[in-house]
Order: sequence, then C-alpha cells, then structure tokens
Amino acid sequence: MKPGPRGLIVARAPGRVNLIGDHTDYTGGFVLPAAIDRWTTIELDQRDEYWFELVSNDDPEPALIPRDVQNPNAGRPVWARYFAGVVSVAQPERGGSGFVTSNLPIGAGLSSSAALTVASALAIGEDGPPLEIALMCQEAERRATGLGVGIMDHLASAGGVEGCALLIDCTSLETNPVPIPDGIEIVVVHSGQERTLAAANYGVRRSQCEEAEAEIGPFRDATIDDVLSMGDDVLRRRAHHVVSENERVIECARALREGDLTLVGELMAASHASLREDFEVSTHALDQLVAHLVTIPGIHGARLTGAGFGGCAVALADTGVADTLDLPLLWAVHAVGGATAEPR
Ligand code: GLA
Repeated sequence: MKPGPRGLIVARAPGRVNLIGDHTDYTGGFVLPAAIDRWTTIELDQRDEYWFELVSNDDPEPALIPRDVQNPNAGRPVWARYFAGVVSVAQPERGGSGFVTSNLPIGAGLSSSAALTVASALAIGEDGPPLEIALMCQEAERRATGLGVGIMDHLASAGGVEGCALLIDCTSLETNPVPIPDGIEIVVVHSGQERTLAAANYGVRRSQCEEAEAEIGPFRDATIDDVLSMGDDVLRRRAHHVVSENERVIECARALREGDLTLVGELMAASHASLREDFEVSTHALDQLVAHLVTIPGIHGARLTGAGFGGCAVALADTGVADTLDLPLLWAVHAVGGATAEPR
C-alpha cells in the first residue's frame, strides 16, 4: 500500500494498435504492438478521503468508488469498473476527485480499457517500472471484466517507445523496441462494426487454447508437427493459428528492422488469413476492409487488429497515403512513448 502524492496529478496513457500477433499473449507467445497518439487522461485531485469521485467527458453519470472497493465488476457506470479494478489491486491510502477524458475510440480494438487502467494506476500514485504497472493493470482489468486478458495492451500502454513497435515476449515479459521504418505510417481503419460478443468469444477461445495445450503442451514450445498430430479439428486450428502466429511475429519484427516491407505485408496477410480461417475471430466487414486496403498503392500490408469480432484493421502505408483515402473512421497514428504522470 502506497500513500501516493497529495494534490493534483495528471496521468495520461496511450491506446495501442497491434501490428501482428493476436491471441498469442495469453499463452505466453509473441506480440508486436505500438502505443499510439490517442490517450486517456485522468486529472485526479488526491485528498484524504474514503471515496474516489470521478466524472468522464463521455458519460453524464458520475462514479463513486470506495478505496476498499470489493467487487469492481459490479459497479456503475461501466467504465468506472476499470478504475475500481485498479483501486482494488493497489489499495491506495487516499481518495480524491477527478476528470477522465479520452480521444480513443471505445470498443474499436485500440485498448481504450487498458489505457484507462494504466492512467488510473498512475493517477492514484503508482510509480513503478512499466512492467510492474502493466501487471497490476492486467490484474485490475481481469477483476473489472472477469476476462482472462493477456499482458499485451497494458504493457504497450505503460512501456511504449516513441517511433517504435514493441516486440513483447509474453513468457519472459522482455520487450524490445522495433523502429517503424522511415517514410512508413501506421493507419487504423474501423470496419464500421462494433465488436460484438467479443467478451464471450474471447473466453471461449482462451478455453480452447487451454484444452489444446493440455494435449500438445505449451504452444510456445510446440511445433507445427505437434499441431498437425491433433485429432480434434477445431482445437487443431486454434493451435495452428497461435503456433504459426508466434513465428510470424518474430519474422515480422526482423523484416521491419531490415525494412523489408514486402515480407511484412505477406506476414500481415498470412496473419489475417489465420485469424479468419483457423482462429475464426474475423468478420465479413473486416475481411472486406482488409481485402480493399491491400489493393491500394502505397499500402504494404493490412490485417485485423486486436481481439477481432469487429473493430479495426491496421495497415502499414507510405506516409501521406492515408490522406488520400476516402474511408470513414480512419486514423493515421504515430507510435509514441508510454504513459506519464505529472503533478500540476
Ligand atoms: C485483447 C486482450 C489482449 C489480447 C488481444 C488479442 O486486446 O486484451 O490481451 O489477447 O485481445 O490479441
């Protein structure tokens, strides 16, 4: 339990986009996300109070959270559950009142929830290294949602590196920055479809992975031959996605470092196909969007990003291409550093 600083603190945490490596983090695999220049900001006035009182620019309903909150996943409004999750893990000695603002689209697959937990942790005075903050926030989100989310989103938000994606080994939790090549920008495009049943399906996919690992051992150490030996068609395809995706992430990080954008594009295409066919988390709208994006000159690769079931596609494009595209809900984003907190 930490006393944390008194007074006004402004904590800002970025969302993330994942370039490649989806549904690999919760089995200890590899991911390649980047923190992006869309943030959630919390201005918190810390006081010796029992309550946290919060208001958000997105919701007229205020939130009142006790410092010893017991069931973060039961509170209202729903966004405040993430703050409550952090409070329940961190057990701060002070409460306070604050404003939450965000320019991250919610439910788009850009980790608005992870940004909210990381900003919450810093706002209440947590000040450890990014990995420590990320682990605390992962636990907080699990308590807030009841979902066994992986570490990717929180670690990208807490530990982002400007101009770089982060190659994260979700077993050792080691991170290595991978520079985005000069002249290339990250483009995020919403499929127009809100993520549907994402939470329920996420849980099902996790259980299927556990079942498959019980048969062939940890995916992280499994080979494609191990996967092909499996009897059950669904479990074999789930395992095939994860084991092959881990290889693609490593190859993609290398190709990005070498500026081999043709190979990066091929790997992104293979990743999307694997998420569609083997892991079955794509949607028709996402498939059509990705198919369209890769026909555009100057776009090197595209795929769905995040958990799937709707939400966004990510593309790597020559700088300036995004400005020429006539697509609604498109954001050219930049890779930024991780979350910060400053007294005011
Ligand atoms: C969500 C989870 C992450 C990760 C992705 C899929 O964003 O929070 O931990 O599993 O889905 O890659």
